[in-house]
Amino acid sequence: MSTDSKIIDGKAFAEGLRTRIAVVAADFEAKAGRKAGLAVVLVGEDPASQVYVRNKGKQTVAAGMESFEHKLPADTSEADLLAVVERLNADPAVDGILVQLPLPAHMNEQKVIATINPDKDVDGFHVVNVGRLATGLPGFVPCTPLGCVMLLKDRLGSLSGLDAVVIGRSNIVGKPMAQLLIAESCTVTVAHSRTKDLPEVVRRADIVVAAVGRPEMVKGDWLKPGATVIDVGINRVPGAEEGKSRLVGDVDFASAAEVAGAITPVPGGVGPMTIAVLLRNTVVAAHRNAGLVLDESAL
Ligand code: GUN
Repeated sequence: MSTDSKIIDGKAFAEGLRTRIAVVAADFEAKAGRKAGLAVVLVGEDPASQVYVRNKGKQTVAAGMESFEHKLPADTSEADLLAVVERLNADPAVDGILVQLPLPAHMNEQKVIATINPDKDVDGFHVVNVGRLATGLPGFVPCTPLGCVMLLKDRLGSLSGLDAVVIGRSNIVGKPMAQLLIAESCTVTVAHSRTKDLPEVVRRADIVVAAVGRPEMVKGDWLKPGATVIDVGINRVPGAEEGKSRLVGDVDFASAAEVAGAITPVPGGVGPMTIAVLLRNTVVAAHRNAGLVLDESAL
């Protein structure tokens, strides 16, 4: 089989999702008499975060929703940031709140996240939403892992009974990814930097989700032939030309694509899904907060 047909095109899937979201957002506006609104708070001037926030704003508006951007200087006090979050909690035009991470070192991220109203927490980072995911209650699920599950179900259909290995145990990706795969009736192993004989563990998997932040760590000969590989890594490494860089994932794409049944590329795989799912969570929040019915499973 050629490598091309194995590629899971996250960019195309995200475009389709954004088209469906735009239809739902227009319907919300007609019913509620206002647009669904997403507030993004950025503290400091981290260049990567600035790019993310700009793209979030553009895509929010393109989907027919309102974008509120709050850019605060890097030396903002934690108390001032908490006051901004409290104002957004109380603002009826704001359905979703995202505080861009990482925050400057003088701030306690957990305290900031805990201040967001869980029903506006479209990142799904609040402990209430973490608990809802763990117990199977409706809440908000972190965008990147939810995007990964959408891609997996689109390619494989039912995931029931499949062996899944998640590499990485972060609060943002690894842990919620494991919860989502359990909810899909996979048999889930969470591997991490202390795992013994990682290649052997990965070789058992029908589904491999790599989210460790180590460039091209997972090799083709670690994979069970036909496995589905989801690469969450985005690592900038020196390019072939002097002074140039390129993006690679946590998976060595060239060798993995030879063995895998399906694989997400970097870029163009999981990356584009994150903002699309954020928009999905926002339009879902808008309906819930306005007491309007929405078939969330169709999004
Ligand atoms: N920084 C990098 N990715 C994310 C994300 O998904 N949400 C937030 N809040 N910050 C991030």
